[in-house]
Amino acid sequence: MGAIITGTGSALPARCVTNAELAERIDTSDEWIVERTGIRQRYIAGQGETTATLATEAARNALSAAGRTAADIDLIIVATTSADNSFPASATKVQALLGAPTCAAFDVQAVCSGFVYALSIADAMIGAGSARCALIIGAETMTRLLDWEDRTTCVLFGDGAGAVVLEANDDPSRGIIATRLHADGCQAPMLYADGGISTTQTTGMIRMAGREVFRHAVTNLAQVLTDVIADAGLAASDIDWVVPHQANKRIIDATVKKLGLTADRVIMTVDRHANTSAASVPLALDCAVRDGRIQRGDMLALEAMGGGFTWGACLLRY
Ligand code: UT7
Repeated sequence: MGAIITGTGSALPARCVTNAELAERIDTSDEWIVERTGIRQRYIAGQGETTATLATEAARNALSAAGRTAADIDLIIVATTSADNSFPASATKVQALLGAPTCAAFDVQAVCSGFVYALSIADAMIGAGSARCALIIGAETMTRLLDWEDRTTCVLFGDGAGAVVLEANDDPSRGIIATRLHADGCQAPMLYADGGISTTQTTGMIRMAGREVFRHAVTNLAQVLTDVIADAGLAASDIDWVVPHQANKRIIDATVKKLGLTADRVIMTVDRHANTSAASVPLALDCAVRDGRIQRGDMLALEAMGGGFTWGACLLRY
């Protein structure tokens, strides 16, 4: 049994913060942020907005697009690094808020690659017959992990959520075709939070060696895309749309260039959303589905890379 995306949805916090607004408080400029990252604005969660509330709104929008209700769901996975509580999982909070049945609900923590990891897990569970209608969500409030004194990281992130309904389907010409997941724990010092439950009993704040992460990102993402395309017996030219993790426009440009693809095949939302970690791929996907760029039958290549390092890619016929 294969798995197809039958609906997408997303949600953003109410407050949009431009680079110019940040530059009033931080030693930075709109010019620097745009030139180095492509980011023009980000959404920042306010009072009452949490990872689980954003995830639930995105999930409702995806369910409505799929023509499903919460009662149809038999699996909920939330990819997040910024859960509402240390436990229980945000997925169980989403389950309660949606009024979904007592199906399996758990979080996946693979930082920015979380959504690609979650999609791969759900695909395997559907393939094994243990789920038929899954809600896969990437949701984050990463701005709550930022050190606002560190201009090298605080200008890069934003909050938001994206979701898909993934359903069992026996038409081999549609759905998820191949996925690849990787991790390299030796690279943890390059991108991490300097706190945690079992160490400092605090959440810590994001620390990143930006230039090193950039270099690894381009290499790893180009390789994993090449591999997943080869796994499917396809060529890069068969890809209609690359839906990349939205960390930095220059990373995205350099990665697709290595594959010989042009910018007109890439969904770019980093200018509007900044880096929303696990939410970035499903947010970009939903934007492009709703604005009509991504059409039924298109071949999509999803990719992401983040702390761990973790990275992965997923090839699917939408
Ligand atoms: O989500 C997954 C992972 N995250 C990423 O993929 C991020 C990967 N890394 C990057 O996107 C880039 O490395 C950054 C955007 C973080 C930084 O860009 P860069 O071109 O690598 O700049 P840099 O770190 O080499 O810094 C260049 C200069 C430095 O000044 P000096 O030493 O040349 O005088 C920095 O101090 O830019 C300075 N700088 C800033 N200036 C204004 C660093 N941050 C800022 C800032 N505003 N916000």
